[in-house]
Amino acid sequence: MDHKINLTVNGHPVEKWIKSSTTLLDFLRNKLDLTGIKEGCGVGECGACTVIMNGKTVRSCLVLAVEADGAEITTIEGIAKDGELSNIQKAFVEKGAVQCGFCIPGFVTAGENLLQRKENPTREEIIEAFSGHLCRCTGYVQIMEAMESVTEDNKG
Ligand code: FES
Ligand code: FES
Repeated sequence: MDHKINLTVNGHPVEKWIKSSTTLLDFLRNKLDLTGIKEGCGVGECGACTVIMNGKTVRSCLVLAVEADGAEITTIEGIAKDGELSNIQKAFVEKGAVQCGFCIPGFVTAGENLLQRKENPTREEIIEAFSGHLCRCTGYVQIMEAMESVTEDNKG
């Protein structure tokens, strides 16, 4: 059965008809063409599909699109502002934290959400925010360096 949902995605109002079985991941990628978020495992274990929903990160492969009715969603496409990369995105580039890039939207989105919640997170809080995010390429060292360089800048 189809349902009509209304939500806000990256600051824009969206109204669509969707099937009750459609995941938020499928909806964002295939109905809205927001293909920055990735489908890795499809079962909540890799973090590649992470988006911010009402101020919290969610694995969009585990959320039905109907559950996002009325929600405010931010995807990786909504992180850069007016074509300017965020501080975290710049740091990932500068620190060489991006290799194949498949996992990076999930890491950046989780990092942005952490900074929205806490300006100067500790290393432990960064590790917690990144827990469950899998990267097959970098060994995580550069990813942590990038995130810590931003939080160090915040400490100013
Ligand atoms: S695709 Fe959603 S957690 Fe892996
Ligand atoms: S950069 Fe390739 S999986 Fe993380």
